Amino acid sequence: MLTKKNIVDKILENKSRIPQQPQAQAFAPSNIALVKYWGKRDIELNLPITSSLSVSLKEKGTTTKLCISDKDTLSLNNQPIDLTQPFAQKVLRYLDLFRDEKTKLHIETTSNIPIAAGLASSASGFAALILTLNELFQWHLSRTELSVLARLGSGSACRSLWDGFVEWKMGVDQQGFDSFGHSIKDTWPTLCIGLVMISEKPKAISSREAMAITVKTSQLYSAWPKQVADDLKKIKMAIAEQNFTLLGSTAEHNALSMHATMMASQPAIVYSQPETLQTMSTIWHARAQGLPLYFTQDAGPNVKLLFLENDSQQVQKIFPDIEIISLF
Ligand code: PMV
Repeated sequence: MLTKKNIVDKILENKSRIPQQPQAQAFAPSNIALVKYWGKRDIELNLPITSSLSVSLKEKGTTTKLCISDKDTLSLNNQPIDLTQPFAQKVLRYLDLFRDEKTKLHIETTSNIPIAAGLASSASGFAALILTLNELFQWHLSRTELSVLARLGSGSACRSLWDGFVEWKMGVDQQGFDSFGHSIKDTWPTLCIGLVMISEKPKAISSREAMAITVKTSQLYSAWPKQVADDLKKIKMAIAEQNFTLLGSTAEHNALSMHATMMASQPAIVYSQPETLQTMSTIWHARAQGLPLYFTQDAGPNVKLLFLENDSQQVQKIFPDIEIISLF
């Protein structure tokens, strides 16, 4: 079996494993998938069963600072984190893929999005970490190589290396050297995302675990790859033609279909809470009244609204507490 270490060693052949400067810092945006990644063909290397497509949240994401130190320490949003905690273990295991044993680091992670609440914080986290390592070790890797390395931390992180629309091509290579993000040039300056926060609590089941259960036990999953292929075509067409109805309806249908595959798993995986369904119902009602408002949902109860700038005021009337994120 190929390991993460095998892949890292190939990409970093002849590159330094010792920091070339005392510290480095980088930011990466979070991203929200319009066509979701759900299911792995290789669990160790985070290789997906399908391609996916996202939009980055521009200023919402993670900043990571790494400083050479005499021992490893980690802080998250200025709070020191015990290194035995699962979050710290995940970060350290990832760092160990890249550094020699003598290199100890102080890791400072600041995120302006809730961690682990289905707002793709691990995506921006691993993307920011690999960008910072690239600086600290002065590897001068390409964005594509960094995307492959970010994917080893968390699949969706490979899309957080770019702003705007990003497609992650699944690839066919066993080692995953052809499975990385690429930027889609088109922009859509009036496209907005609104975050309806239902819970900031960490999710009960990780997306890693939930994906594995879905792929293994859900009979509905067999229909998923074909749907993703169809939805990718539609979303790309919607972006190219700036057809918002097509974009919104495809993204919403794709998210609900992903959740349907999970609900048909054994044990069933349900990320929605009563307020999630209430929010959906409010959206459908507003749409029936003529407001072009759609949503998407990830591995958590929160809802992300999709709408155009012109409708911001109307949307805010219905959801006064939402945070509106402009994407371009
Ligand atoms: O990259 P992960 O393991 O956090 O999985 C992300 C899964 C979804 O957010 C539900 C979908 C996606 O494409 O981002």
